[in-house]
Amino acid sequence: MTDTTGILKPLSSGALMIDGKAASAAVLEEVKRHAAELTAKGIQPGLAVVLVGEDPASQVYVRAKGKAAKECGFHSVQHTLPASTSEAELLALVADLNADPAIHGILVQLPLPKAINASRVLEAILPAKDVDGFHPINVGLIAIGEPGRALVPCTPAGSMVLLRKACAALGARLAGLNAVVVGRSNIVGKPMAQLLLAENCTVTVAHSRTQDLPQVVRHADIVVAAVGRAEMIKGDWLKPGAIVIDVGINRIAAEGGKTRLVGDVAYAEAVPHVRAITPVPGGVGPMTIAMLMANTCVAAHRIAGLQAPEF
Ligand code: GUN
Repeated sequence: MTDTTGILKPLSSGALMIDGKAASAAVLEEVKRHAAELTAKGIQPGLAVVLVGEDPASQVYVRAKGKAAKECGFHSVQHTLPASTSEAELLALVADLNADPAIHGILVQLPLPKAINASRVLEAILPAKDVDGFHPINVGLIAIGEPGRALVPCTPAGSMVLLRKACAALGARLAGLNAVVVGRSNIVGKPMAQLLLAENCTVTVAHSRTQDLPQVVRHADIVVAAVGRAEMIKGDWLKPGAIVIDVGINRIAAEGGKTRLVGDVAYAEAVPHVRAITPVPGGVGPMTIAMLMANTCVAAHRIAGLQAPEF
């Protein structure tokens, strides 16, 4: 194994832990460097995050995104609107941000209040500024196998970075490997499957209605778990030597009345079977914000007509 990236940590079983914190720090360093170069050319990357209502989890996420943007040297703005905001008012704000030359990335935090049609709002964001990658134009570019022209949703983008780095360090090629994505959400499962296909993997998308899921997973050289069910994928489902990317973040009861975070994969059981695996927390999670910053940096380059960096 030649890990020049420092993101693979050997475990006592001989398996490798894919360290998302180290990988996200490396991405953020790259973003900072590119942002400084752009800013020196008179183009400071700008990210606008829009929060409607007072959902406490959303407030935490939005604060974290703003903080990361500032740390990257971006122009960072947050628009906080009351839960009573109408769809027309939100669309007017999106139109202002679309037209604002200081803003290269627009993120409207979900969920939105029930009275607002989220699809209409997401589709109003200029595809070139859609740093969440949720606009049908970006979804379509990924679906036609041109992710290099799209803004790619942050969680699957971050999962691909971890997977590419793990494969490179292991001296493995992605092309031709059997990849099983467990979960078919628009935000993770579907784009992840298409990104793996773009890397010439043989891709299966499994989901809650899949028959004999353990048998399907057993054929996977790569497992991407994105179902949102705590420790659903058991160790003995895994093919020996599989590479596992666990997107799940589930809070479960722990001893002493406390709670703890676990993934969709039963990690301790999985470790003896795998070649490499992401932990939860500390795997895919930290990559999501890093890829949001990367997308903002890419958007700023493209809008300026400059060659965008690849992450
Ligand atoms: N809410 C939870 N995750 C996300 C995300 O990735 N993007 C947006 N816009 N809202 C979210």
